[in-house]
Amino acid sequence: MKILFASSEVYPLIKTGGLADVSGSLPRAIRNLRHDIRVVLPAYRGVAARAGKTKVLASLGLEGAPGEIRILQGRLPGTNVPLYLVDCPPLFDRDGGPYSAPEGGDWPDNALRFALFARAVCSLALDRAGLDWTPELLHANDWQTGLVPALLSLQARRPATLFTIHNLAYQGQFPATTLDELKLPPDWWSLDGLEFYDQLSFIKGGLVFADWISTVSPTYAREIQTPEYGCGLEGLLSARADRLSGILNGIDYRDWSPCNDPHLARPYSVRSQGGKADNKRALQEDFDLPPRDVPLLGHVGRLVEQKGIDLLLDILPELLARDLQLVILGSGHAELEQALLDLQSAHPRQVGVRIGYSEPLAHRLEAGADLFLMPSRFEPCGLNQLYSLRYGTVPIVRRTGGLADSVVDASPEHLADGSATGFQFDAAEAPDLLAAIERALALYDRPEAWRRLMTRGMQQDFSWTRSAHRYLELYQQLVAARQG
Ligand code: ADP
Ligand code: GLC
Repeated sequence: MKILFASSEVYPLIKTGGLADVSGSLPRAIRNLRHDIRVVLPAYRGVAARAGKTKVLASLGLEGAPGEIRILQGRLPGTNVPLYLVDCPPLFDRDGGPYSAPEGGDWPDNALRFALFARAVCSLALDRAGLDWTPELLHANDWQTGLVPALLSLQARRPATLFTIHNLAYQGQFPATTLDELKLPPDWWSLDGLEFYDQLSFIKGGLVFADWISTVSPTYAREIQTPEYGCGLEGLLSARADRLSGILNGIDYRDWSPCNDPHLARPYSVRSQGGKADNKRALQEDFDLPPRDVPLLGHVGRLVEQKGIDLLLDILPELLARDLQLVILGSGHAELEQALLDLQSAHPRQVGVRIGYSEPLAHRLEAGADLFLMPSRFEPCGLNQLYSLRYGTVPIVRRTGGLADSVVDASPEHLADGSATGFQFDAAEAPDLLAAIERALALYDRPEAWRRLMTRGMQQDFSWTRSAHRYLELYQQLVAARQG
């Protein structure tokens, strides 16, 4: 099967979060199942250089483009997956993040940037970029590619389309005048089109026009049909419930396995767990904490409301009254960053905080911590709990989205039948989080039971193999429906 996979971030070329991890590893897994999947990404600053050897494949004149757009062809590093880069220097070759400026805040021309990206993807999908290759299916991801299914729906001959929601909270909303400015069809300005509370919504392009919608866990697929999680789109999603499903993300064990992770102080594995203690000491050193044998709790992530770090801040006075340590790596909202730094200054022997983004330190934290905290208000899938399981770092998670689908709570029944892998709590409330941490600390004091819990987690298989088969089944079903 021929599949074009469009994403606005792909590890190891450019990453702000889990979307990059998925876009870097799912295509490789599909390729390993012997299907012709190819990835398309904007050529942000430095991306072409990181991709290695590239060649110019085509030049396109696209509606609204500031000059010609070039399509560069290369390979996704470390794989056989062909990669196309949409090269438009005035829009993509700048310092800063893929969505925001170096000083923070979204790029003011994001609508134009991702509309042009979508138009370039459509040219590739319709074999109008000189490739002599026509995909049977176009797989779009998140709002940045939302216009792709919408634009393709205007074509009589087009590939089947799948739109995957990685995070419904980010919708790509722009002022009403944007529809005109981008020269999009005027009849899209309706509730059945791209209008959303008098704004133009890019994500609705995917939700309304794709042949199928998927999201990254079965639980999140159900949750987003309710007002609590639907971000105002629950009505539309319920109306399309017969074309909406959830497939849990996998992870790439080439990058995330403690037995061959180059970032660790010492390798370890499920059969030989001794090295984990050395990684704990190394992590305490990384964060300037005394090398004490006390429970070490950790967190890595974007410091945004979604991740529930404020719940953690609420319980810290009580938590820090106990003999334990906490390490956090993240960046995001300035107030959360400051609150964490203040905490570190107040408790330098117990709390270590690094504000910023560091792939090596994220790996070292996964390896060195005893417990990993994910008190997310919502979590479409979540990858860090999957990494934690692999690294024998017991996750404490809120029972939502992919966290609910990947962690088995250490209830008395699950401890008795040996299926427990972590701790879950229900309400997004500070006392509930505290109660879950207390349960975890109580079990930590029972070394034999703790070892069983860790070992069970490390033995879980969240490799892409199973999920890649699910995507393939879905791809095949959509292509058959389109061609039939
Ligand atoms: P989300 O996509 O919502 O941010 P995920 O759990 O799916 O959450 O994925 C987050 C990814 O980003 C993980 O690979 C995680 O290790 C990484 N990450 C997040 N923040 C940082 C950081 N400050 N430094 C290094 N890696 C980070
Ligand atoms: C999103 C979600 C996260 C998910 C990731 C990859 O950013 O917040 O839960 O794991 O996408 O699908």
